[in-house]
Order: sequence, then C-alpha cells, then structure tokens
Amino acid sequence: MNRLTITRPDDWHVHFRDGAEMQSVVAFSAKRFSRAIVMPNLEPPVVTVGQALAYRQRIVDSLPAKSRFQPLMTLYLTDNTTASEVTAASENDQMYAAKLYPAGATTHSNDGVTDIKNIYSLCEAMAAAKLPLLVHGEDTDPAVDVFDREKKFIDQVLAPLTQKFPELRVVLEHVTTRDAVEFVRNSGNNIAATITAHHLLLDRNAMFDGGIKPHYFCLPVLKRGSHRDTLLDAATGGEKRFFLGTDSAPHARSQKESACGCAGIFSAHAAIEFYAQVFEAAGALDKLEAFASFHGADFYGLPRNDETITLVREPWTVPEYYDFGDDKLVPLMAGETIEWRLDETED
Ligand code: NCD
Ligand code: ZN
Repeated sequence: MNRLTITRPDDWHVHFRDGAEMQSVVAFSAKRFSRAIVMPNLEPPVVTVGQALAYRQRIVDSLPAKSRFQPLMTLYLTDNTTASEVTAASENDQMYAAKLYPAGATTHSNDGVTDIKNIYSLCEAMAAAKLPLLVHGEDTDPAVDVFDREKKFIDQVLAPLTQKFPELRVVLEHVTTRDAVEFVRNSGNNIAATITAHHLLLDRNAMFDGGIKPHYFCLPVLKRGSHRDTLLDAATGGEKRFFLGTDSAPHARSQKESACGCAGIFSAHAAIEFYAQVFEAAGALDKLEAFASFHGADFYGLPRNDETITLVREPWTVPEYYDFGDDKLVPLMAGETIEWRLDETED
C-alpha cells in the first residue's frame, strides 16, 4: 500500500507552550490533526477558565490562515482550585477536561496537587458534571524507582480514586507500562488511556544508545521492551479505550542538551507519520484510523471528524532541528528517515 487515507485524526494530549515558542510549533499539529487537547502546564499554569480562554485565543491567533484546527482547553488543578472553577469549566464549551499533575512529577508541575485528598471535592464535582480528569500517573516519592512510578501511582492513588468516584471519567495519560494497560483493561468504560508515538517506537535503551541521549528523555520515562510490546498490543488491537495522544512536548535545544536536561520529546512534526510507521511494522495499518480518529472522539463524546488526511509512502529525512522561538528544537528522529509523508496537497 502506497497511499493511506484516514479520517482526520485528533491529538488527545499535546503541549504547545506559549508566545514565540508556541508560534513555532502549532502549525505542525494543525496540519495533521483536527482537534487537540491542549495541556495547561504553562508558567504560570492555566488555573482558571479565563486564563484557558485567553490561552485558547493566543493559539487560534497563531494558526495558519484558513486552518480549522480546534484547540480543546484544559484546567490545571492545584491544591487551591475551587469546585466552582471546575463547575465553570464543565459549563464552558471550550473547556474539555481538568489535568492532575502530582506536584513535582514532571515539567512545570510545581503548582500541582500535593495530596490526592486535596482534590476529592473537585473529583466529586467533575464526576457529577462528567468533566474528564486527565492524569499524569506517576508517584512523586523520590524513594520510588523512576521505572516503578507509574505502577506505584496506580496502586496507591488511582485505584483508590476510581473506587471512591466510580462515575468519574478518567484518562490515564501517556501510559508506559503493562500495569497501566491492565488497569485500564480491567476498568469500566469511564476509564481510558492515551499512548504516545515515542512510547510505541522506543524502549529505554534509546536513552543510552552509545552515550546519554537527552532527546529521548521524557516523563513517564521510556520503559523496557516488554512494556512497549504491551502498549503496541493495546494500540493496535482495536481496543476502544486506548487512543492517540502524542504528548509532543517541545523544549529548547539548550534546555535539553544540558547537565540537567528537561523531560519532553517533540513529535508534532511527524506525529501521525510515526504512528503509521509503528502500526505498519506491527502489521496493523488497518487499525490506525480507529486508534487515531475514532476512539478518542467517542470517549470524549464528540463527533468523529468528517475530513480526511492522506499519507503517502515517500521517505523523507527529518531535519536536524526546527526553529523554536529564538532557540532551536530537536525533533524526534532528527536526521533519520521516515517512511510516510503527509500529503499536503489535499488541504
Ligand atoms: C511534558 C512537558 O514538557 O510539558 N514532559 C514530558 O516529558 N512528557 C510534561 C508531561 O506531560 O509530563
Ligand atoms: Zn504531557
């Protein structure tokens, strides 16, 4: 097969940043996706509906002319978020979810939640309003091995939370382990998960291949190959509660190539192409459309897109870097060849 036309996909987890940096990256997503759930971990974070709507407008203002891309906005939960803010989010038609960052778990999470009990009243309001809780699922206890943090969080925080609020709609973001996949599989229809392209493409060896490779460092960190195999099964198996979320997370090259490099992998420049490559290698290209274009919309209760995109088999080499504000950005698979190219003549 040399051409693949699918319903235009959505990205259910992306970081756009803000200002000039945002302007450098938004078009990559807008070309490929119809909608994206935009993460609120700016500095300072997006903690009110008013801030989210202002951020949404800045994104819309950065879009290429004629783009119909829709940013779907989210609220950043803190220990001090009020139930009325959550209710206001649930009543606003530009707001689609609220995000739980355990404090200290990842990039720009210092204002996150220090104890899950601090947001129980918010979870109650969200369950009643059917506003999804998006979860960065990692335990933050520094004594816990970095490779075990997802499992520990599921056991200690997420399982009790979903028992306490059985109606709460939850997306466990960027799952990386067999434990997370099994948790979702064993849960009800109100619990789903996103899977990134990089966690499908790579295992943790990539971070240490011939030396330390900061551009492969993200959170949750890449895991061993057997976990990757399980993610691949979940993504390509037609399971309805697993869907595409790139977690494309751009950082300036100077921030990545540093003695203390930031967590985050930028993949928006070829996001759907990466997934196509992975699905093809697994012999499951026919399952790509449901994973990328149907399951997420169905979970969020939104209409499936009616436009299409086409990928053509025309290998191309990813640039070594893109511009990023006044710095540079090193994209996933910089300098390497990708099999599929987005057909941009169809726009
Ligand atoms: C994300 C970022 O840079 O904002 N980083 C990452 O490694 N994934 C934050 C996140 O989603 O954890
Ligand atoms: Zn993320």
